[in-house]
Amino acid sequence: MHLRQRNTRDKNLSTDLLAVFVTDTNKGTLLSTCPKPIKPILQKYIQLFQAKKLKCDILIPVGDVLSNIQYIFLGFQGLIKFYKPGDAVRILASRVLKQTKPLNLKKVSVLITDADMRPYFTPILQGMLLGFYTFDKYKSSPSKYQPEIEFWTSQKYASVAKRLIHRQDVLCESVNHCRDLINEPGDVAIPETFAKHARSISKKHGLTCEVLNESDLKRLGYPALIAVGKGSIHPPRLITMKYKKRGHKKHLLLIGKGITFDTGGISIKPANEMWEMKGDMSGGAAVLFTMEAIARLDCPVNVTAIIATAENAIGSRAQMPGNIFFAKNGKSIHVDNTDAEGRLVLTDAFARAEKEKADYIVDIATLTGACVRALGTEIAGVMGNTQNLIKAIQAAGKVQGEEFWELPLFPPYKKQLECPHADLNNIGTGYGGAITAGLFLQEFIPDKARWAHLDIAGPFITTKPEKYFNEGATGFGVRTFVELALNFKKYLKP
Ligand code: BES
Ligand code: MG
Ligand code: ZN
Repeated sequence: MHLRQRNTRDKNLSTDLLAVFVTDTNKGTLLSTCPKPIKPILQKYIQLFQAKKLKCDILIPVGDVLSNIQYIFLGFQGLIKFYKPGDAVRILASRVLKQTKPLNLKKVSVLITDADMRPYFTPILQGMLLGFYTFDKYKSSPSKYQPEIEFWTSQKYASVAKRLIHRQDVLCESVNHCRDLINEPGDVAIPETFAKHARSISKKHGLTCEVLNESDLKRLGYPALIAVGKGSIHPPRLITMKYKKRGHKKHLLLIGKGITFDTGGISIKPANEMWEMKGDMSGGAAVLFTMEAIARLDCPVNVTAIIATAENAIGSRAQMPGNIFFAKNGKSIHVDNTDAEGRLVLTDAFARAEKEKADYIVDIATLTGACVRALGTEIAGVMGNTQNLIKAIQAAGKVQGEEFWELPLFPPYKKQLECPHADLNNIGTGYGGAITAGLFLQEFIPDKARWAHLDIAGPFITTKPEKYFNEGATGFGVRTFVELALNFKKYLKP
């Protein structure tokens, strides 16, 4: 999709569809900044809206009145119930391209009023770029529809608009790359696929990249990836990528769970919806493509990414319930349930992180069904040992339309992880599964680390169109991480 900025005063502006968003705050200013010829049309519909006579957004054919515009699409933020203003605007913006696709309109334009420039332009861009995404490459006739998009702004905002367009173009491209990898079937996206992407992103954008393969992992003593990956013909990988920013000291380390398919192992999952477990690498994918965006946007902080990737397969070679192994930090783990594999592979990632001495560590994982039950599909869980880091993630997420709710790392629940045969059991004994998973991870974080854990088992995928997302992976986490890295000093004051 090609995006560009145009000045509202240009003589030769023309478009197949002009989208106008009537946000609750710009009702007053919209008319003063819009191109003259469409003023009366907007005026009429805005009055209808204010008189509560419009119940949905509308497509108005105006070609017989205006020679340079075929349709006007009017979207009213106030009609989108429940969502906050930013998300309401993302949803509205995503609806534009849903209108133009069946009409096969080639050029689509959006009127950006001066009042929209600060608060709404970014959500409008995101709604369009993320809302347009579908995963249809395996259809026998995938959609070829690729409209050209113009944003009509006043001359005053031309340069700001161009900068924001570029930023969202880069960011949303990485979110969509992330969705692409997650949506691939589990026999296509295997651990080595992560390694290939990590190498190519690193090469292209000047990052360093280390890939530990199966024999490296055995030699260097990363037992968890070996244990979890044992049942698969696709061996595990531990991947480390580094983005270094000259002149900056702070160091953020991101860890992603990359289970390329989670059958549950011998503790096998029920068949229903098991296919969704091709997305059990969503945390790893988020971290991988965050690195792509961070490098392209030249973020002012050093960032390291560690991805622990393996397939949790079932078979005669798979690890068995009752197995006990020593994690790299020396603690022994009793594998009570082979389906609690994410927390196992993350112990290797934390051990690798220890070597980096980062200021902050954030892990992201589709870790527990319990988190989905607690918070539903639109909210991720966040836990950790450092309040300002947790708050920073929540604040960055809010700006980007990704919601994080804090769950407590309640110490008494640690007793659920006690085990007569080993230092730790890999599952709890009762309710509060998202928390016991967090408490388990806490046993493996590097000494004195300031750490947060993000459980994205709810929002990593949607099985029906939701908000501005079509069915499939959402790329959850990328936007929050990039927001945090772009404005690191603002969110994490030194
Ligand atoms: N990948 C799953 C968690 C999951 C569930 C992610 C639903 C997305 C949607 C994880 O590996 C898992 O199986 N967790 C178990 C843990 C249990 C055995 C303690 C779970 O949540 O059932
Ligand atoms: Mg599992
Ligand atoms: Zn899993």
